[in-house]
Amino acid sequence: MSNSLPKNIFLEGIWQPWPAECDINDCAVIGEIPKELNGTFYRNGPNPQYVYSKNYHMFEGDGMIHVIMFSNGQVRYKNRWIRTEKFLAERNARKSLFGGMRDFMACDDSVKNTSRNTANTNVIWHHNKLLALNEGGQPVDVDINDLTQCNTYTFNQVLDRSMMAHPKIDPVTGELIFYSYFGPDFRYFIANKNGKITHQEKISMPFMCMMHDFAITENFSIFPLFPLTWDFQRISQGEPIFKWEPNLNTRFAIMPRHGNDNDVIWFEDQSSMGFHVVNAREEGDKIILEMVVMDDIPADAIAFADDSATYVNYFMRWTFDLKKRTIIKERLDDMNVEFPRIDERFVGRNNRHAYMNGTINKGVPNLFDAIIHYDVKNKKKQTHHFGDDSFALEPIFVPRSSDSHEGDGFLLSYVYCEAQDRSDLVILDAQHVDAEPLAIVQLPHRVPFGFHGCWVNEIPIDPHVT
Ligand SMILES: [Fe+2]
Repeated sequence: MSNSLPKNIFLEGIWQPWPAECDINDCAVIGEIPKELNGTFYRNGPNPQYVYSKNYHMFEGDGMIHVIMFSNGQVRYKNRWIRTEKFLAERNARKSLFGGMRDFMACDDSVKNTSRNTANTNVIWHHNKLLALNEGGQPVDVDINDLTQCNTYTFNQVLDRSMMAHPKIDPVTGELIFYSYFGPDFRYFIANKNGKITHQEKISMPFMCMMHDFAITENFSIFPLFPLTWDFQRISQGEPIFKWEPNLNTRFAIMPRHGNDNDVIWFEDQSSMGFHVVNAREEGDKIILEMVVMDDIPADAIAFADDSATYVNYFMRWTFDLKKRTIIKERLDDMNVEFPRIDERFVGRNNRHAYMNGTINKGVPNLFDAIIHYDVKNKKKQTHHFGDDSFALEPIFVPRSSDSHEGDGFLLSYVYCEAQDRSDLVILDAQHVDAEPLAIVQLPHRVPFGFHGCWVNEIPIDPHVT
């Protein structure tokens, strides 16, 4: 059957799925790849193999991993769909079998007991495993030498439920810290550097809400609760699963890393909505949390119902005094920003630099035409604008070497050129973000709007390349 796409903003332009899997053994490069850049950049994002209906939303497309491998100045590229149970069932049937979040009850009889997990949100590297994550499903272990070999990952049969998409890796201990919130309760986990789950706690929450991201410090975990609530019962009543309930306010649970429900210190602030954490740190009795946050969400976006709604996020800081139990909230900038990253050797520590996407031309709602560098300590900002029809995706920081100082390294970002309907992988000097790119890897096709990725200091063995 044909796979023509219905009319839908998330199936057009930068969001239009790329229907092919391919390998490019020598990519075209403008400029010079930094000699220190040896390793692999993995990026995950939604790329539907089949679309159920015109109600498609970008959150629900099948995960596709785009891979760029750097080896002594040579650059290879490949992309593969993540072989989830859903993907394989639909590939076998050659059609969509599941409704999305706005057709949730729709499901072909043949897949009633099949997971809907798309594994489309993030990809991380921990204890020599590449894990593709979506907060509604279990992790998927992707073989780096053959990306089509994918298996549900359970941490040696300990994790039998969903895993959030933004776990944190402590840069000193190597611990992997995460939670599961899409389920009957909120469960918090710590796996050691070898992937063994050593700590598991059930934590009482005042309401169940979208908890996309959280933060760690050296000694604490910080869980933000924004009042975008979810409830599976709403689906059976024909209502959207998510509801914006600002009267519940925003809450923060702060708990010692290895603590339990009894140790949680609660804070409450006026309602706001945030998806992504920049970083957090301790200062004496205080916890500093930096995120990108909306003051409110557009009313029509309550249930992600209006795809034309505009989201505006700001770089925000909360300071929690654990002794006085007070909050100070500061907006650090007025620019619309998203997809923040830092030098990950400073996760939970006192970082100076933050990098994120930003919008300079306000005529492109929900897209980002720039990369922004914030020097948080010196209150300085640098901007790299890609032009009015080029849109940057999440910038990943890669240190120049394992012992280079914070911020000494490179930013890697896919940039989509609308006029040419294709993408580049742009490499910036992270200390001179406003300068010309160090190098541009030109791809012949688009890399659709996606979410998150990681850098791995290893290059997979590719049996197809000699
Ligand atoms: Fe995210």
